[in-house]
Amino acid sequence: MPYADLFIHSARYLATVRGYSAEPARGSAMDEVGLIEDGAVAIVGDKIAAVGTTADLEREGWVGPDTERLDARGKVVTPGFVDPHTHVLYGGSRENELPLKLAGVPYLEILKQGGGILSTVSATASATDEELKAQTKKRLRTMLSLGTTTAEVKSGYGLSLKEELRALRLIAELNKEEVLDLVPTFMGAHAVPPGSSEEEFTKTIVEEMLPQVAGQGIAEFCDVFCEPGVFSLESSERILARAKELGFRPKIHADELEAAGGAELAARIEAVSADHLLQASDRGIKDMAQAGVIAVLLPATSFNLAKNSYARARDMVAAGVPVALATDSNPGSSPTESMSLVLTLACLYLKLSPAEALTAATINAAHALRRAGLVGSLEAGKQADVLIFDVPNLNYLPYHFGNNPVDAVIKKGKKVWENR
Ligand code: NIG
Ligand code: FE
Repeated sequence: MPYADLFIHSARYLATVRGYSAEPARGSAMDEVGLIEDGAVAIVGDKIAAVGTTADLEREGWVGPDTERLDARGKVVTPGFVDPHTHVLYGGSRENELPLKLAGVPYLEILKQGGGILSTVSATASATDEELKAQTKKRLRTMLSLGTTTAEVKSGYGLSLKEELRALRLIAELNKEEVLDLVPTFMGAHAVPPGSSEEEFTKTIVEEMLPQVAGQGIAEFCDVFCEPGVFSLESSERILARAKELGFRPKIHADELEAAGGAELAARIEAVSADHLLQASDRGIKDMAQAGVIAVLLPATSFNLAKNSYARARDMVAAGVPVALATDSNPGSSPTESMSLVLTLACLYLKLSPAEALTAATINAAHALRRAGLVGSLEAGKQADVLIFDVPNLNYLPYHFGNNPVDAVIKKGKKVWENR
């Protein structure tokens, strides 16, 4: 047995979120985060070797003469956050939309007028590769400092084959160059570009874009903005069905602004996740539970759209839908990188308990990216992605908001960020 390279010890509470690596946590299991008092983690290389109480791990002999010790006395230790829904690769910003929003102009109306997603498409197209990467790196580093150690990133501000391929290539480069692990999703169906119709663009995605993206092997998931006025249920189903044939795992922006059968479609095509779901129907929730589709809920988007409309998370948990949380980080509907803020909003408005929110932001989020064998919990054999929070207990984490509660971020066994 080797000695640990890094020994995190004496944590007041260590939330392992263990036991859900094979299947996501559902129902009452979401509230069980495997808390250990006076907890410790022994890390060898980039992997977790052992998890338990400080006394147990010391007795087992993990601590050698060269082991680096990290004292978490009085603090809370958790798995790194997994953010399973972001659009962080983009050019420009959209603060110009704030006065419009305050004046009551709806989100989709701004898009119809050529603003919204389409204005980010223009800003992204006019940025060089270097500019786009520099802007995105800043956001990725903010995410890391806020505790996100794995994140999904969608394309979708390209809307042409060339620009979508560029976005996915840049995501791959950023994944190599940055500390965070990035998971790429192709989302050509994010908006209909000017000069095209929904039918034409759907055809382009199905016949040209999907085969090319699949051929390059640069995206694991395929996502669609399924919303009346953007991509209809029929178009979304066509795109996701073809994507599945080509080896992508489907995801779907579903029932965000209107109840349109998106949750039902997610179940029908066995999507890995359905995201947003503010208006999901009872039927849709039942179908998702039955098909094992993960609900990725995005309360920061609800908060920022300022319509007092949130997903029915309690009904979903009661129905047995595995719930995950994400930032939806994007320049329009959710300009934030903070999973801590998402946890706060999830407790206050989705009515999740702090433990359920943590499960949703770690292991269930890892399942939504099919990474649950690797990350999302503190268990022997997993990648050593660990957070130390300067908070006294789990309730404190969502309770105190607007600051960064993270004290240190350990990624693949190395301390990569520290609050000084
Ligand atoms: O998930 N709903 C569609 N797409 C994003 C918003 C992207 C944008 O506004 O730029 C979302 O909310
Ligand atoms: Fe989104």
